[in-house]
Amino acid sequence: MSPFWSAFVMALIVLNLGITLFLFLWAPRVHIPTLADGTSGHVWAHGVLREGIRPLPVWWLVLSAAMFVVGFAYLALYPGFGAFKGLLGWTSHDQLARAHAVNDARLAPLTERVRATSIESLAGDRQAMAAGERLFVDNCAPCHGRDARGNQRLGAPNLANGIWLHGGDGATILASIADGRRGGMPSFAGAMPDDAIIDVVNYVESLSGLPHDPLRAQIGKRSFSTCAACHGADAKGNKALGAPDLTDAVWLYGRQHATLVETVRNGRSGVMPAWRGRLSDDEMKLLAGYVHGLSHPAVTQP
Ligand code: HEC
Ligand code: HEC
Repeated sequence: MSPFWSAFVMALIVLNLGITLFLFLWAPRVHIPTLADGTSGHVWAHGVLREGIRPLPVWWLVLSAAMFVVGFAYLALYPGFGAFKGLLGWTSHDQLARAHAVNDARLAPLTERVRATSIESLAGDRQAMAAGERLFVDNCAPCHGRDARGNQRLGAPNLANGIWLHGGDGATILASIADGRRGGMPSFAGAMPDDAIIDVVNYVESLSGLPHDPLRAQIGKRSFSTCAACHGADAKGNKALGAPDLTDAVWLYGRQHATLVETVRNGRSGVMPAWRGRLSDDEMKLLAGYVHGLSHPAVTQP
């Protein structure tokens, strides 16, 4: 706070408290002239109502006096009077830092275990899994769902079925979380006539036993060489590129014919945000352990 604003605040406080304190001390001493009947002489409602004079109630005087005592004590002890720091030296920053320190001390044993344990073994630590679940619900559930079963509107994959776009080992899961991912399915609307797109979609549908037109699938198979660069000649996907397996019954965006056509026509690029910087290293490791544990339940629970 600049000296000017500090002085400004001090002046306001002195003025406000000074005036109210003066009124408080002065008012009971003022003599108010009264008529013989004990009223002030004010008359309302054609003489039906006359204004009497009553002393202030004791409770009101006591409460007001207490308010002044508490007010002055507060300004003396705590920050509030301009730039004056208060006799106790209290600051909200210190209080927050103390609360953090208490929390860190409480979590220290867990943090130490998390640092000493591999991502794959964290599933055996019940407390770590509970902490991981809380982090997941807070940060990941909006896209992947509370139960981690994914969301086909966003192309957010199911993280609990043991089928991976990029890989399901601890280090790869951690990399997905820390650095984020971006799906790179190109649009074929310009590169292929629409008929050919529908043919190749029929071929894709034939791979996992979805309803399809066998003749179109046969024609589509020939154009699949364009797709094989990423999805593999056997269409089983490529984890290095995040290209999904097209032969299983698991779909990022859904298995409806129209959805598949839309994917090939317009491309897809599901975005997994990067969490490095937003979550601590320990938190990301906890999450990786939690996600790994969803499809690799722990053998032993302590
Ligand atoms: C904004 C939505 C969104 C949020 C929030 C989000 N994700 Fe994702 N996540 C995605 C999408 C979309 C993908 C697929 C990316 C791709 O297509 O390559 C993905 C992919 C992943 C993968 C890779 C899965 C695989 O099969 O290889 C992991 C692991 C993952 N997310 C974990 C998390 C965790 C843990 C969190 C919370 C910290 C989180 N995600 C938050 C949307 C999200
Ligand atoms: C440059 C690499 C690349 C090429 C070429 C490519 N794909 Fe893809 N494809 C991807 C990636 C990466 C994804 C995942 C997109 C995402 O995560 O958002 C994907 C997703 C898909 C999906 C959605 C799968 C699901 O689970 O919902 C279909 C269907 C698909 N591709 C079909 C094809 C077909 C058919 C071709 C050829 C005409 C093709 N792809 C060519 C990389 C590629």
